[in-house]
Amino acid sequence: MAEIRTGQNEIRNRKRIHHVPLNRDAPIGVFDSGVGGLTVAREIMRQIPNEKIIYFGDTARVPYGNKSQETVTRFSKQIVRFLQTFQVKTIVVACNTASAYAMDALEQDCDIPIIGVVKPGARMAAEVTRNGRLGVIATEATISSRIYTQYIQELNPNVTIYGKACPLFVPLVEEGLLEDPVTDEIARRYLTELIDIDIDTLILGCTHYPLIRSTLSKIMGPNVTLVNPAYETARELRQMLEQMNLLNEDPPKLGSNRYQFYVSDKAEKFMTFANSIIKYGILSARTIHIEKY
Ligand code: DGL
Repeated sequence: MAEIRTGQNEIRNRKRIHHVPLNRDAPIGVFDSGVGGLTVAREIMRQIPNEKIIYFGDTARVPYGNKSQETVTRFSKQIVRFLQTFQVKTIVVACNTASAYAMDALEQDCDIPIIGVVKPGARMAAEVTRNGRLGVIATEATISSRIYTQYIQELNPNVTIYGKACPLFVPLVEEGLLEDPVTDEIARRYLTELIDIDIDTLILGCTHYPLIRSTLSKIMGPNVTLVNPAYETARELRQMLEQMNLLNEDPPKLGSNRYQFYVSDKAEKFMTFANSIIKYGILSARTIHIEKY
C-alpha cells in the first residue's frame, strides 16, 4: 500500500515524477464510474472556476463498488488513457472505489499528477473528530479495502474507524430518490449501528452520498460532523495546482468548451441527471467506446 504523506510532501513528490511539460491552460480530467463524480466536478467548478474540465462517467460499467480490484484497475487505466488524449494537466479520480483500488497502479503509469478522493477525505476526518470515533460509509469495495482506516490511523493512531457498506444508496441516488421515505428507511437501517457506537464524525466515502446529505444528516443528528471528501479534494487540487504553477489564472475564452462530458452509455440520461445537480447549463454529453483505450 502507498505510504501516507503530508499534503506538502505529496505535492513535492508529484513535481519530481513528471517528465512532460504541463500547460496551465490545459483541462483537468475527472472520472467516476457514473454520475457520482459530478459531486466532485461541481466542487471543482465552484472552488476553481477558471479551470476547464473533461469529465468521464463509466455509465456502461457502473457500479464499480461490487467489482474486483483487478477489474476496477483495468477500467480506470482505460479511462486515464482516454482522458490523456485531451492533454489534461492533471487527473482527479472522483470515485472512492477507484481511488481505493487503483490509485497506486495509476500513479505508476501516469506522467501527470493524479489525485484521488480518499486521502483528502481521510485527512479532514482525522482533523475534525473530537471523541476519536469515526464512521465511514462507502461501497463494499471501499470498505473491504480498509483504505480509510489505514490512512486515518497513520495520521492519528488513537482513533477507531467503523466501516459500513451501504450498497443500496447508489441505485437510490441514480433513481433520483434523494429525499424520499424509501431512502430514509434504508439509511436508518444502515446507520443505526453507527449511531449506537457513538461516532462523532461520518465520512461520506462514496461520491454519490453527498447527494443524500440532508437525509444522512437528519438521521445522524446534529452532533455528528459529515465529511464530504469532494470538498476537500477540490481544495487540495487547487493547492496542488497553485504550488505546481498550473492554476489557470484567466477564465476560459468565451465560446471555448469549458466543461465537456463523456460517458460509455446513455448520454441523455446522464445529461438529465447532470443538469439536475450542476447549475452551469451543461449542454451535452457524448458516448464513447471506452474499451478501445
Ligand atoms: N462512485 C462510486 C464511489 O465513489 C460508487 C458507485 C459505484 O459503485 O460505482 O465509490
